[in-house]
Amino acid sequence: MALVKVENVRKRYALGAASVLALNGVSTEVEEGAFLAIAGPSGSGKSTLLNIIGCIDTADEGSVMIDGVDVSGQDPDALADLRARRIGFIFQTFNLLPVLSALENVEFPLLHLRELSRAERRERAMHYLEVVGLGDRAGNRPNQLSGGQRQRVAIARPLATRPRLVLADEPTANLDRATGREILDLMQGINRDTGTTFIFSTHDSQVMAIADRLLHMVDGRLAEASATQAAS
Ligand SMILES: Nc1ncnc2c1ncn2[C@@H]1O[C@H](COP(=O)(O)OP(=O)(O)OP(=O)(O)O)[C@@H](O)[C@H]1O
Ligand SMILES: [Mg+2]
Repeated sequence: MALVKVENVRKRYALGAASVLALNGVSTEVEEGAFLAIAGPSGSGKSTLLNIIGCIDTADEGSVMIDGVDVSGQDPDALADLRARRIGFIFQTFNLLPVLSALENVEFPLLHLRELSRAERRERAMHYLEVVGLGDRAGNRPNQLSGGQRQRVAIARPLATRPRLVLADEPTANLDRATGREILDLMQGINRDTGTTFIFSTHDSQVMAIADRLLHMVDGRLAEASATQAAS
């Protein structure tokens, strides 16, 4: 069974009197353990699709199944639980909380997992900070970290909940090429070691090259692409 199954998803955004058709009948399946990139021009609908798969936004039409669960049929509490336990999000702009330390930022989504004690939360957050090479920066707040280090915290944070699926919206867009490469290698290592599924949106040829499957989004429609085609 596919981990993610998207069928005929349409999404229209109202913009004053006009509207924008952001997704125009998107269908795809993503197998567990995939390392998948979605490329395509600005405004083609990549972020919209990730947000809908990640249950941050909802489709107007069509269905989204995550791990066999039809998310459109879920009530808000069930959806929040699904999101907290099975899905991790890495945002392009990191979305770290400025008043919290690196460790507290990683610990934050674990508050939702009531079965974890305070000590377990701390230990787990620290473990994932170490995984991303920031064990020695646990007490730093985001403004006391470099851009690449902030992105590492933003990667450690969703991983700490041990999700089945990580959605990463242009995770390398704010990083120099070398740091982007390190972050990609880190995510690929986690994908290979744990089988965690990754879906990226990207404009970065490095991401397209490392992905084991590449989709191309144009005008709200999705097509399978070969890596060489999309990177050129
Ligand atoms: N909240 C919103 N309200 C109105 N229009 C929106 C909204 N979010 C996105 N759109 C529109 O939907 C379309 C798809 O946007 P989306 O953010 O998914 O594109 P994208 O492929 O992620 O682009 P980029 O590569 O620039 O990040 C665009 O035309 C955008 O202007
Ligand atoms: Mg986007």
